Amino acid sequence: PATARAEPDGDVSIGGVRIAALAARYGTPLQILDEEDVRGRCRAFRDAFGDAEIAYAGKAFLCRGMASLIAEEGLSLDVCSDGELAVARAVRFPPGRVLMHGNAKTPDDLRAALGYGVGRVVADSFSEIARLAAAPDGARTRMLIRVAPGVDGGTHAALTTGTDGQKFGFPLSTGAAAEAVRRVLGQHDAGGRGRRGPELAGLHCHLGSQITALDAFEEAARRMVALLAAVRDEHGVVLPELDLGGGFGVAYRPGEAEVDPRELGERVRRAVREACALHRLPVPRLVLEPGRAIAAHAGVTAYRVVSVKRAAAGGVLVAVDGGMSDNPRPGLYGAAYTVRLAGRRGTGGDRAATVVGRHCEAGDVLVRDARLPADVRPGDLLAVPCTGAYHHSMASNYNLVRRPPVVAVRDGRARTLVRRETAEDLLARDVG
Ligand code: LLP
Repeated sequence: PATARAEPDGDVSIGGVRIAALAARYGTPLQILDEEDVRGRCRAFRDAFGDAEIAYAGKAFLCRGMASLIAEEGLSLDVCSDGELAVARAVRFPPGRVLMHGNAKTPDDLRAALGYGVGRVVADSFSEIARLAAAPDGARTRMLIRVAPGVDGGTHAALTTGTDGQKFGFPLSTGAAAEAVRRVLGQHDAGGRGRRGPELAGLHCHLGSQITALDAFEEAARRMVALLAAVRDEHGVVLPELDLGGGFGVAYRPGEAEVDPRELGERVRRAVREACALHRLPVPRLVLEPGRAIAAHAGVTAYRVVSVKRAAAGGVLVAVDGGMSDNPRPGLYGAAYTVRLAGRRGTGGDRAATVVGRHCEAGDVLVRDARLPADVRPGDLLAVPCTGAYHHSMASNYNLVRRPPVVAVRDGRARTLVRRETAEDLLARDVG
């Protein structure tokens, strides 16, 4: 995180608070959020994109504290369930700045979205278009149509969403995207008077997540502008908004590629401008939906070492008090992390280590190929950076392990955003 500092005694401080002090006060595992880092990244995106709308993708990490912070920084919010919307509602997130996503929005999701008056619903199927048209308050809704532009961002297969043959959106290549536009505009009388169903605000695409190839975003922008032009040619309607989604990759380890918001902003805006000039279209209002790029670096997870074993393959197996229940990403995507000793300075040089979790699965490995001081021992604190996005939000109670708290740090102070689960929490829904 931006405010992380190595202390002379080997500890690490974040937001002016030492990890050892946080662990003593809140226990471990502990998810620490550097508030300054989140705010800085919100501003970097806003600065890079001028008058574009930046909508934070709440799936990366959402709680009331985070939603408030996002609102304060002037960002919009992308939600994808009535649960995420409930958090937005709880902090009175400005409804006009909320976007509702989802390839299979349930009746509850749609009811909640329309009831709250979200600024845009991103339609993902013909049946959803029909449901929105039939909804009593549908006509007051603004809609985006989600398009699969057929651009491959070159990320993990499970995170690829812009190609044909995956579940999201209307493929551009088959004509389904154009047909979706036809269905929505077909509900409108000429000039938009007597409109039944939602207003079509524009088009949306999202290529996937953890993408670092900027040319993929440029290519998607060009294809989407061409579709805006085709809509204008067929219907005589110039749609005002173009949402290019999120997916901007971050470096989990030193030396890995990371999307620079400024370069992204320059290249994407230029691609849109040039494509619009080519098609003689006015430049649409852009929307971007970064999730990981806002939250990932702000997070550090602190664990306590429980046991140390010699590994058959050399090095040591260091087991900690968390694992796949607070970080399922290594298991799901083969995600790689770094780890360091915190709380004290190690001695005896570094040696190869594998950091494993406490869960009842051999695949519960947090960090492969780690290096830790030779004297690492039970009771030590370990810190894993870059755990602010898709960690807390993907946490589970596997093995009935209680989910960790999230504590925000800033200017030498810590405050709890989400408290640790208790045994009562675990039993609260177990009513048999
Ligand atoms: N917009 C839409 C419509 C999305 O589906 C997503 C992410 C985003 C924006 C934000 O993408 P980001 O900027 O965070 O890459 N659990 C996976 C990531 C799944 C992303 C799902 N959709 C992981 O841990 O890597």
